Amino acid sequence: MKLDQVIAERKSIRAFKKDPIPRELIEEVFQQVIQAPSALNLQPWEFIVVSGEEKERLSRLLLKSYQERKISCSPGAKGPLPTELSSRGEQSVATLKPALDELGLSFDAFINEGSCRFYDAPVAIICCMNKIFSSRQYLCIGVALGYLTLAAHARGLGTCPIGLVAAYEDQVREFLNIPGDWEIVLGVALGYPDRSSPINRSKTPRAPLGKVLRWFD
Ligand SMILES: Cc1cc2nc3c(=O)[nH]c(=O)nc-3n(C[C@H](O)[C@H](O)[C@H](O)COP(=O)(O)O)c2cc1C
Repeated sequence: MKLDQVIAERKSIRAFKKDPIPRELIEEVFQQVIQAPSALNLQPWEFIVVSGEEKERLSRLLLKSYQERKISCSPGAKGPLPTELSSRGEQSVATLKPALDELGLSFDAFINEGSCRFYDAPVAIICCMNKIFSSRQYLCIGVALGYLTLAAHARGLGTCPIGLVAAYEDQVREFLNIPGDWEIVLGVALGYPDRSSPINRSKTPRAPLGKVLRWFD
C-alpha cells in the first residue's frame, strides 16, 4: 500500500474484532515504529504491550478509576478554546453522533468508558517516556505514535490513541510495574477493525489547508 493511501485511509478505530494479533505482527509494527526520528536519536520511548487476561484486568482497573474520579478525555487546554478550535471539536463529535444514536449510546459515556476499555481491542499499548527528558521530548512520542498508527493500518490493523490513560497514571504504573523514572504518556488500542460497527463508518473532517498553512515569503 502506498504511504499516501495509508495516510488517507487511517482513522481512529473504536470497535474491534476479538481476534488476537500474532506476536510477530505486533513486532513487525514496532520494527517500523522504532524507525521514527527522535531528538539526537535518543529514542526516549518504551512501549508496553498488554494483551489477554492482563489487558482485561487493566481495562477493569481503568473503568473503576474512571468511575471513582471521573477524569474524562479532555483536550488538555489551558483555558476556554477559541471558537475556531472548539468548532473543530464539535465537528468531530457530530461525525460520530449518527452511529452513537444508532447504538443508543451517549458521546461522553462511549468515549470515556470506551477509552478505559481500549474499545475492547485485544491489545493495549502503553507508551512511556523516560522522565529525565523535558516536555519537549513528548514530540518524539508523538512522532512514534504517528508511525504506529500508520504502520498498523498498512497491515490491516486499527488503532485509537488513548490519552485518557495518562489521567490514571498512578494506577496504571502500579498495575504494570512501571518504574518511577518512566512517565506514562498515552495508551493505544490495537486490533483488527470491526468494519460492521457503525462507529467505524465515519471519518473526522479536517480544517482546510488555508486555515492551518501560512506562507511567509
Ligand atoms: C494524543 C491523543 C490522545 C487521544 N486520546 C483519545 C482518547 O482518550 N480517547 C479516544 O477515543 N480518542 C482519543 N484520541 C483520538 C482522537 O480523538 C482522534 O485522533 C481525532 O478525533 C481525529 O480522528 P481520527 O484519528 O479518526 O483522524 C486521541 C488522539 C491523540 C493524538
